[in-house]
Amino acid sequence: MLLDCDTGIDDAVTLLYLASLVKAGEAELVGVGTVHGNVDPATGALNTLRIFEMTGIENVPVAVGAGRPMAQDVHFAHDWHGTDGLGETHLPVPAATPDGISAPEQIVRLAKAHPGELTLVAIGPLTNLGIALLLEPELPELLREVVIMGGAFDHPGNITAHAEANIWHDPEAADLVFAADWPIVLVPLDATHPTAVGDEWLNRLAQGESDVARFAVRILEFYVNAYTATMKRRGCIIHDALAAMIAVDPSLGRYEERPVRVELRGELTRGATMWDARSLPAEDARRTVKVVVGSDVTSFQERLLATLL
Ligand code: BDR
Ligand code: CA
Repeated sequence: MLLDCDTGIDDAVTLLYLASLVKAGEAELVGVGTVHGNVDPATGALNTLRIFEMTGIENVPVAVGAGRPMAQDVHFAHDWHGTDGLGETHLPVPAATPDGISAPEQIVRLAKAHPGELTLVAIGPLTNLGIALLLEPELPELLREVVIMGGAFDHPGNITAHAEANIWHDPEAADLVFAADWPIVLVPLDATHPTAVGDEWLNRLAQGESDVARFAVRILEFYVNAYTATMKRRGCIIHDALAAMIAVDPSLGRYEERPVRVELRGELTRGATMWDARSLPAEDARRTVKVVVGSDVTSFQERLLATLL
């Protein structure tokens, strides 16, 4: 697996989950790239290295990627993730430093080193993937699958009425990615919102005595406070972990196959993901995306908790 992320709080919990699988020999992580989004990519890389240091993950290169979107201004999600991306915990600087290569170059290099073997899991804006496609047009043939957290179909957006954050941060890059000829699994808000964790799950996590559990509780406090204000109950949505878990175990999800486009021009709808529900002749339609329309929520919540305790 190759991970592309914007290491804020749910990305960080996802890294804790993946670190646990790597240590158990249940997944192999060959690299991580960071991108603008929740925070700037240099901060995201430091957060990623902090988590690797804490969990004892070594020899996974972390590359800093695009600092801004392809065709609009950059925005960060400090209100949801803190200015440091980890809920204003301002942890010490890790000993390791990011790799010299850029994240898009790392995607191309690792895809060439493992042709047809890697699943690219993208849990941030899609700028690095878009640049990697421009750098190496044959990239789609080199990857096994791309799993993306992003988009909203029947569910409202979480930045505007129609746009979800990872797509809204760089709609042009997202549309390039959906137009490319690679197998995509898309995990939109329609799938992540029903997995919201509440009081009971958070209390069980708070009882955990491991360093990982204590760290997760500490960073989640800020995120839970931000969500609780909008959800009207204590809780949060750990969107990115659902995408990572589905990448590891596709049986967790339920799918619909649709061509997907990103709205690039609408005054009210820029950044919205649109799926085409018509049956078009093949030459008129894009390659379909496997859109996750639901998942086994209990299994997701229990498996995630078990890796954090
Ligand atoms: C996505 O946006 C980010 O804030 C989260 O990390 C997640 O990747 C949810 O819309
Ligand atoms: Ca993210």
